[in-house]
Amino acid sequence: MIRRAVYPGTFDPITFGHLNILEKAAKMFDEVILAVADFTGKNTLFDLAERTSMCRIATSHLSNVVVDSFDGLIVDYTRKKESAVMIRGMRAVSDFEYELALALTNKKLAPDIETIFLVPNLRYMYQSSSLIKQLALLSSALDDYVPACVIKAFETKKK
Ligand code: COA
Repeated sequence: MIRRAVYPGTFDPITFGHLNILEKAAKMFDEVILAVADFTGKNTLFDLAERTSMCRIATSHLSNVVVDSFDGLIVDYTRKKESAVMIRGMRAVSDFEYELALALTNKKLAPDIETIFLVPNLRYMYQSSSLIKQLALLSSALDDYVPACVIKAFETKKK
């Protein structure tokens, strides 16, 4: 049986922090599906196709990672993919309450699916997509935060 995990998120855009979590998960599971959410309750800068495309390019070095997008509940998607595990990154204490609420709500919806939290390396602890978007708007260098394909996408957006 394939041990498959789903790593869901908005990925608006994907960052080195997300990739750090994904690389750890890829070592633990036979296959990891990076699932880009269509409905996230957030106003995204990049549309679903743009976010998914950046994720595909940024993860092309990981042979057991598949990039997909989904609409609807993440637990339904995870079940459909015959997985019983969702991965989430836990950065600082500030993530804890939100992540706990998310995990417990998902648990109530789908008791058969577990959420596993992975901690990123120290240097990625305080990164977030919102902060990176602010830096991009203010034309700050982004090389430490996001892959080249994302930098290119920001440049295209600004034009
Ligand atoms: N490194 C850097 N930043 C990270 C990170 C990491 N390792 N892990 C998370 N983040 C940041 C993200 O960049 C994002 O920052 P932002 O808020 O500044 O944009 C923030 O942490 C959280 O983003 P993300 O991990 O993408 O989660 P989310 O809360 O945006 O999305 C979904 C969560 C997609 C899983 C959730 O909305 C979902 O499941 N949607 C489908 C509908 C559903 O099932 N809803 C019921 C859920 S109970």
